[in-house]
This record gives sequence, structure tokens and C-alpha cells, in this order.
Amino acid sequence: MTLSEQPSPAPSTATRPAAIEPGSIAAATYNAATYNDDLVTRSPQALAHRGKSVAPRKILVLGATSGIAEATCRLWAAGGHHLFLVARNSEKLDMVAADLRTRGAGSVQTAVADLDDTAGHHNLLTHAVNSLTGLDIAYLAHGILGDQHAAEEDFGHAAQILHTNFVAPVSLLTWLANFCAQRRSGTLAVLSSVAGDRGRKSNYLYGSSKAGLSAFLGGLRNRVDREGVTVLNIKPGPVKTAMTTGMKGSGKFADVDKVAQTIVSAIDKRRDTLYVPFQWQPIMFVIRHIPERIFKKLNL
Ligand SMILES: NC(=O)c1ccc[n+]([C@@H]2O[C@H](COP(=O)([O-])OP(=O)(O)OC[C@H]3O[C@@H](n4cnc5c(N)ncnc54)[C@H](OP(=O)(O)O)[C@@H]3O)[C@@H](O)[C@H]2O)c1
Repeated sequence: MTLSEQPSPAPSTATRPAAIEPGSIAAATYNAATYNDDLVTRSPQALAHRGKSVAPRKILVLGATSGIAEATCRLWAAGGHHLFLVARNSEKLDMVAADLRTRGAGSVQTAVADLDDTAGHHNLLTHAVNSLTGLDIAYLAHGILGDQHAAEEDFGHAAQILHTNFVAPVSLLTWLANFCAQRRSGTLAVLSSVAGDRGRKSNYLYGSSKAGLSAFLGGLRNRVDREGVTVLNIKPGPVKTAMTTGMKGSGKFADVDKVAQTIVSAIDKRRDTLYVPFQWQPIMFVIRHIPERIFKKLNL
């Protein structure tokens, strides 16, 4: 693992963060060869001079190359926050990390990991919180749309959608919730979807994976709220990202930068649930309440 100092317009010092205390949930070992550290720490004075927050937060981003995650990270970087980015595509991850450094992030560290590998989650998350020397926000953004028609014929593909969008997040969130509950602080912000609010014939595999995730988040919040942990369920409508490229009507989908601004604001306000853009809340209220005898005849 390497530690390097980046040229910076502000005075800077590069420091290796102290490890989380032995005996805590984060005291396990990890395979250093898997990870890349590139830490730049800027002083609070330098941040204040540049009009930024003097209390930068420690943010873990899982699925950091997602279009929505990238846009959110650009805002956090401009605020001088410390980022630990996880993605499976190392080239794209390097590009995203480099961009965020130039935008003013307090520090940017990265790890390459396939998040489907639930057996690797403990070591990955332990390394991430040790590298950040704590955790203020965990942002779960990875996911796949999958192919509904393929999933109707092939259980293997259906299981893949459920694994990536539901099983893997449950594994990550179980570890993260216990870590935050032990420290009695932290926000878990998770990208679910409006598609989870009601099963539709056009995407019920993706929808059911997000429905499961939303139900899990509701129960998790009910458990850890009293431990000082916030669980934010983010339910976007269609957003212009790689996931929706080429879809019918995609020109009218929500702008990813506006969606990201709303997400950052909801995290700051410690909200429980966010429909974004906001009009999806009344739309989904109506869709959820259409009687089944009518709903089953609709082409949705
Ligand atoms: N865009 C929308 O309209 C919309 C609406 C509602 C909810 N959402 C949700 O928002 C989240 C972000 O979506 P997006 O629109 O930003 O889509 P995106 O740009 O396609 O991003 C999805 C990301 O997930 C990553 N990923 C998938 N499987 C992974 C795995 N096993 N391990 C590590 N990374 C993995 C992908 O990595 P690779 O690049 O390596 O494939 C990609 O970076 C998803 O959970 C999605 O379901 C999106």
C-alpha cells in the first residue's frame, strides 16, 4: 500500500490515519495488496481559508463509479470531505478519484472490489473505516438493472439481480449498522428505487430486489435509530445515467447533478426516506393504491 502527498494549492500534510482501536469491530486484518491508498489531508485552517467546512466528514462510497454516486461525490469533494471509494472497475475508479482530488476533497482513498463477493465484505469495510479513521456516512450506490425478459426465463439471471441489489447490500449494511451502533453515530444512505414500491410486469425482478432492500432499510432504521444511527432510504425515479441510457423517454429523465444535490441535502437533514425528484412521492402514492383488479390489466 502506498501513501503519497498530492500537490495542493493549500498548505497540506500527508499523514497515515491511526487505526481503529484493537478490540473494536474494525480490528480485523485485510489484504493490503487489494487496496490503493492515496491520502491527501488538508488542514482545517486551509479549508476555512477556502470557504469550506472546518469539520470535514468521513464518507465511504460503495459503487463509487455509479453515475449518481459520482455526482454526489463531486459535491462532497467541493466541500473538502474525506472520501473512501469502492468500485470494481479500477480504471474508472482511478479516473473518478483523480477528478475528486482536483475538486478539493480533503482526501481520496480507493479500493477495488466486486461487491457481490460478500465473503470479502468484512475485510473491505474494516480496511475502509481504518483508513478513514472512523465513519460519518456510508453511501451504498452499486446496483444493476438486469434484463427482465432474461430473468423471466433464467433463474440464474433473476438470482444475480437479487444478489447484487439485495443480498450484497444486506451483508454490507449489517456490518456497517453494527459498526455505527457500537459508536452510536453515523448515517447509512442507500440507493433503493421507486421501482420497489410496487411490482410491475416490465421490471418486477429489479423492483422486487429494491422492495426487499426498502423493507430491510425500514426494519434496520427501526432497530438502530435509538442507537443514534440514521438510515436514509433514497428512492429515485428515472435518472439520466449509464443505467438508463437508450431507454424510451430517457431525454426527460432527471438530471443527475440535481438528484445528487437533493441527496446531499437529505443526508445533511438526517431524513428517513427521500423520493427524488420529489414528484415521485405522490406518483407512487397513487400507483400503490390502484386496486389490484385494475392494476393487473395495466401495461406498466
Ligand atoms: N438511474 C436511475 O434511473 C435509477 C433509478 C432508481 C434507482 N437507481 C439506483 O441507483 C443506484 C446507482 O445507479 P446509477 O443510475 O448511478 O447507475 P450506474 O451508473 O449504472 O451505476 C451502477 C454502478 O453499480 C456498480 N456495480 C454493479 N454491480 C457491482 C458489483 N457487483 N460490485 C461493484 N460495483 C457494482 C457498477 O459498476 P460497473 O461500472 O463496474 O458496472 C456501476 O458503477 C443503483 O442502485 C440503481 O439501482 C437508479
